[in-house]
Amino acid sequence: MTADNEQDIKGLKAAGRVCAQAMKLMMESARPGMTTAELDQIGEDFLKKEGAKSAPRAMYNFPGGTCISIAPVIAHGIPDDHVLQDGELINIDVSAELGGFFSDTGASMVVGASNPDYDRLLEAAKAALMKALSVAKAGKPLNLIGKTIQQEAARHGFNVIYDLTGHGIGHHLHEKPSAVYNFHKPEDRRTLNAGLVLAIEPFLTTGRGRVVEKPDGWSLKTVDNTIAAQFEHTIIVTKNEPIILTA
Ligand code: CO
Ligand code: CO
Repeated sequence: MTADNEQDIKGLKAAGRVCAQAMKLMMESARPGMTTAELDQIGEDFLKKEGAKSAPRAMYNFPGGTCISIAPVIAHGIPDDHVLQDGELINIDVSAELGGFFSDTGASMVVGASNPDYDRLLEAAKAALMKALSVAKAGKPLNLIGKTIQQEAARHGFNVIYDLTGHGIGHHLHEKPSAVYNFHKPEDRRTLNAGLVLAIEPFLTTGRGRVVEKPDGWSLKTVDNTIAAQFEHTIIVTKNEPIILTA
């Protein structure tokens, strides 16, 4: 959607804040020994308490309130009886609807003690998101986002996942522009307009950047079982730096 009045901006900010808070709570709560279903419950309980609805559950009948993915799964992981292990690389993705507005945020992290390889990937993915946000300005090509993400990934020695993209958001979880690519695509001639609401979500990997769906019909894992990391924010595009709704 394009947010062009104060009421839209207020509603989007409220939805973004709830997602960001749920995300923070889940990241702080994740510890070895707990199941991903327990972690999910913490997030969904918080959303409910704030009057928000899990977007994947409401929109797609996803079997969870949030997505929790254990590497090499990187998206749409189903919360279940998996017990989190010390040193495990995971991704948490929270999207929700509040007052008719949708927001979407995600982050990868290591449960318990990390290692330098995971840390390097996490830092690079975070840097790719921040760099992408800094170039997302009204009047600029939409694909400057993808070009920037791919450049930043390469600079750190990583690849992007080509199959997974950011998206428009606002009145629905996924709306136009439907694919905000995480790589340079010269034929993409779309332009960013002021007020455009976008979820930007770079996925970085050590592998060749393709994912496959697991037999559960939801989980997307790297085709080569390599590790991957994602960070995501929902923003409103402006002439200058974007408004980050899920910060
Ligand atoms: Co998301
Ligand atoms: Co998203």
